[in-house]
Amino acid sequence: MIDLRSDTVTRPTEAMRAAMSRADVGDDVYSEDPTVRTLEERVADLFGHEAALFTPTGSMANVLAVRSLVAPGQEVLCEASAHIARAELGAHGAFSGLTMRTWIDAGGQVDLPTLRRLFAPDLGPFFVRTAAISVENTHNFAGGAVLPLRDLQDVREFATGAGAAVHLDGARIWNAHVATGTPLREYGAVADVMAVCLSKGLGAPVGSLLVGSRDTVAEARVWRKRMGGGMRQVGFLAAAGLHALDHHLERLADDHANARLLAEACGVDPSTVDTNIVVVERSDAADFVARAREAGVLVGTVGSTVVRLVTHLDVSRADAEKAAAALAVL
Ligand SMILES: Cc1ncc(COP(=O)(O)O)c(C=O)c1O
Repeated sequence: MIDLRSDTVTRPTEAMRAAMSRADVGDDVYSEDPTVRTLEERVADLFGHEAALFTPTGSMANVLAVRSLVAPGQEVLCEASAHIARAELGAHGAFSGLTMRTWIDAGGQVDLPTLRRLFAPDLGPFFVRTAAISVENTHNFAGGAVLPLRDLQDVREFATGAGAAVHLDGARIWNAHVATGTPLREYGAVADVMAVCLSKGLGAPVGSLLVGSRDTVAEARVWRKRMGGGMRQVGFLAAAGLHALDHHLERLADDHANARLLAEACGVDPSTVDTNIVVVERSDAADFVARAREAGVLVGTVGSTVVRLVTHLDVSRADAEKAAAALAVL
């Protein structure tokens, strides 16, 4: 089976397993795990922020990040199909007591005029106050779409002028970086707080980080523990992340090329595929998934008429060619 359901399905390579087994570890709830500290410092530095916090999942990093910006009873604005709005099972409302309002953009892009109209300043005891704007780069459900740096900078400028903060869901910021050549620090500069994942394109089995100021990270550390995310000798997993940063970043370009190949086979214009995710409109989506499985290719749906294919570390060029040939005739 060639598994194109998600870039989260990768298994650690032998070299990654070796790095994990060698990791120097300690109790991270006591802040005594040297490998976790190294990873946190390295990732904070990559994005030009003061500090970072290792979390078990991207969802937890997002929940901690957004709650650091938005108090109970306040709101965050985001695109309607953002992961924080659609796929975190209401965690931000359930745990943080905040609300969301959304703009709709099929390409997952920022719509600044709409954002300006949605934005609600603090009007005392009358309206919900917008405390933050959240952007997702790359945008998962919009097919791994890259948000141009210029647009992100405009959001940053608008938010700063309006007295709001910016959250960046950068689960796949690595893909955006490799696809565009934009330095990670430039992405870091547009956000007050980010969430980045090691367990997607980078191919680590587990792990994400919240990236932000020292104070934000200190408070998030308390909330992570409160939510049951305080982990002990977790340097074994941080070592996988460090290995991934060393060995799996630049190769994301291969995933992007493979995604374009698959797009072409499925009748999608490859020039519309920015990174490693292809979304295909199919009225027969469920049937397509079943027939693909029979042909030896696992794909998923992200809507009743939308099929999603994701390339990753465990899909070689030969696998992509084989899958493309199989999908082209469905
Ligand atoms: C854009 C985006 N943000 C956050 C997450 C959450 O990551 P996790 O599955 O580790 O909770 C995902 C997961 O796929 C994602 O695609």
